[in-house]
Amino acid sequence: MKLYLAPMDAITHQAFRNLVGRFGGCDEYFNEMINASSLLNNGPWEKYYLFDGPEPEKLVWQLTDKSGEKMAAAARIVAQLNGLGVDLNMGCSAPQIAKTGAGIAWMLKPVEETAAMVRAVKSELVNAAKDGSREKRLSVKLRLGNEEYTEEKLHNFCQMLIDEGVQLLTLHARTQKQKHSRHSDWSAVQHLAEKFPQIPVVLNGDVKDAASFEAAKKAAPNAAGIMIATAAAQKPWIFRKLRIASGECKDDAGCFDALQLGLDFILDVERFQPKEFWKTRLQRFFAFYCLNFSFGHYFQSSMINASDNEDARKRLAEYFEKCPDDRMKRL
Ligand SMILES: Cc1cc2nc3c(=O)[nH]c(=O)nc-3n(C[C@H](O)[C@H](O)[C@H](O)COP(=O)(O)O)c2cc1C
Repeated sequence: MKLYLAPMDAITHQAFRNLVGRFGGCDEYFNEMINASSLLNNGPWEKYYLFDGPEPEKLVWQLTDKSGEKMAAAARIVAQLNGLGVDLNMGCSAPQIAKTGAGIAWMLKPVEETAAMVRAVKSELVNAAKDGSREKRLSVKLRLGNEEYTEEKLHNFCQMLIDEGVQLLTLHARTQKQKHSRHSDWSAVQHLAEKFPQIPVVLNGDVKDAASFEAAKKAAPNAAGIMIATAAAQKPWIFRKLRIASGECKDDAGCFDALQLGLDFILDVERFQPKEFWKTRLQRFFAFYCLNFSFGHYFQSSMINASDNEDARKRLAEYFEKCPDDRMKRL
């Protein structure tokens, strides 16, 4: 069973992926979504979205945009880079994305329009491989659909994607408006995987520990893999834990220094993110990470209020001085 790091905006940049990597990594790392229009405008920050570490051969570039032409032009750019594949974001239901025609809007537009976009992206990936380099895999991350979703509609949509050359599907099995309080429907992933055995179908949603990992595998035994977002943001070591739990790797009873991990992350943010992003990237990550500790909410609000990186370092050190038992953490 393959393990995938989910794309998370402002989180799954290289500094965060390095944290996942130091615990043994995962099978594929999805980059945070890249806005195709911004990439094409070649703004000052775009190069930071194109770092490919820590394991470039396992990196998947996720693209988002409302324009099919721009998606294809951006695919032409990332097709020249390292990486395993290109993923099309058809799952994001945040209103500021969906309302513009991006994310889940691609599931709801006239199907010919979406088919044309996928065809144009595919053709860029095929063209880029004409020099003999390996063609990048084309994948789509999607939801069930909007509130009028039926399995038949979803399957017809996925049939179109496959006909246009999509080679892997990740299903976050919630509808457009379903919030996280409602459990995602893993049986829909199983039905999709049964319907399309010719391609890998990946399950996403609500896998957060060994118990939910086992339950998800049981509910969708035909899924090719499991993609994890929120739980990985909180515990970048989750993939190692799941491998230990399923007997794929040895439990070395290892501990890590949670203060050092936080400090290393800040240093990597300084290396791999533009200065203008430092504050928000630290806030995003520490909002999840701090919840691992005894006084998680207090720690979280302290880190979110850090004025700059030096202050964040100071606040990290202060927390572990006050709570020394939290510092050496077992996986
Ligand atoms: C902070 C955050 C940022 C996200 N950004 C993206 C994104 O850039 N692209 C995307 O397809 N999904 C994005 N998602 C959705 C996740 O990839 C995933 O589908 C969702 O969180 C469900 O998985 P989980 O239960 O493991 O968290 C984001 C989720 C979170 C929490």
